[in-house]
Amino acid sequence: MHVNRLWTILSSPVALLACWTIDPAACAGNIDRGRYLVEALTACDNCHTPRGAAGYDFSKRFSGGAQTFSDKSYVVRGSNISPDSETGVGAWTDKELRAAIVDGVGRDGRLAPVMPSDSYKALTARDLDAIIAFLRSVAPVRAPLQEPQQRRGEWAPHPAPGVAAAFDEGSLSEKNARGLYVASLARCMSCHSEEIDGAPDYQNRLGAGGKVFRTPAGVAVASNITSHRAKGVGVWSDDDLKRAITQGVARDGAPLRPPMSTLSKAHFSKMSSDDLDALVAWIRTIPPKE
Ligand code: HEC
Ligand code: HEC
Repeated sequence: MHVNRLWTILSSPVALLACWTIDPAACAGNIDRGRYLVEALTACDNCHTPRGAAGYDFSKRFSGGAQTFSDKSYVVRGSNISPDSETGVGAWTDKELRAAIVDGVGRDGRLAPVMPSDSYKALTARDLDAIIAFLRSVAPVRAPLQEPQQRRGEWAPHPAPGVAAAFDEGSLSEKNARGLYVASLARCMSCHSEEIDGAPDYQNRLGAGGKVFRTPAGVAVASNITSHRAKGVGVWSDDDLKRAITQGVARDGAPLRPPMSTLSKAHFSKMSSDDLDALVAWIRTIPPKE
């Protein structure tokens, strides 16, 4: 048995222990599925894993993010979601973790909307549990968050059309439904839809771009990824789109800016070809917008 796994069983909660004892093969499969979802699509590391010079510092995986997110109603950092029982989520029940991931509700109330639960709402019951099994399988890291945090808002959920509730497993065999599922988990729509008063305007501006991102590398404006032939990606080939998504390269070969390029390289490059095909097919269904 892998040392990490042995460690997990010795140190972490009943849920994983039960899973492992009842059916070790299914349990391992579940962890692998969770790893795929987290690494290729949901990109939890992006906000919950510290960074070193060469990217994520996986020796401290999930022990808290590098960035501080602030808005008029919150100053927060991605929490320690490693299985450490004191400073992480090791002592949380599966039910509590599900509530945080898909409902944006933490142990002491609503989480700041930086935690993208609206995008994760679509997770099938099986995939949500797979993510939790994967989280519980990594090494616990003791790391209290130093930053003062404040939260003063009541945030209403803003799910994109068609992804306001959990998908059922069966629907994922239909290509467009799968593409929508992938787009939701990878947060394509929440970044690529224009915001009105701080909330994405999915009704009128789905995929139209315009949201501004400021990172240490500079400023980037999310592109129009609707099927508009001039303003969007309507004339791009499937290969152009796949290259932009998985390599962070524009149609003319120029590198895209962060956060797109960072997500492409660290995460979307790991998408399975089925998920990528479905995603590209779904993007083509976004009605054109200027
Ligand atoms: C875009 C950034 C971002 C991404 C991506 C993200 N989170 Fe979060 N998450 C946050 C922030 C910020 C908080 C803290 C919010 C607060 O304190 O109000 C948080 C809070 C949480 C919490 C509550 C922890 C606690 O101690 O209260 C859990 C659990 C969690 N996230 C799990 C996940 C998982 C699992 C994923 C991937 C499926 C994920 N997050 C992806 C930003 C993110
Ligand atoms: C955290 C925000 C964010 C997420 C998540 C995100 N993008 Fe992007 N994306 C951007 C930004 C910002 C740009 C513009 C980069 C630039 O100008 O160099 C961009 C650029 C692109 C481009 C290039 C378009 C062009 O005209 O050059 C494509 C295609 C694209 N994104 C598709 C996607 C898809 C599909 C997903 C989901 C798998 C996704 N993006 C997820 C922010 C994001």
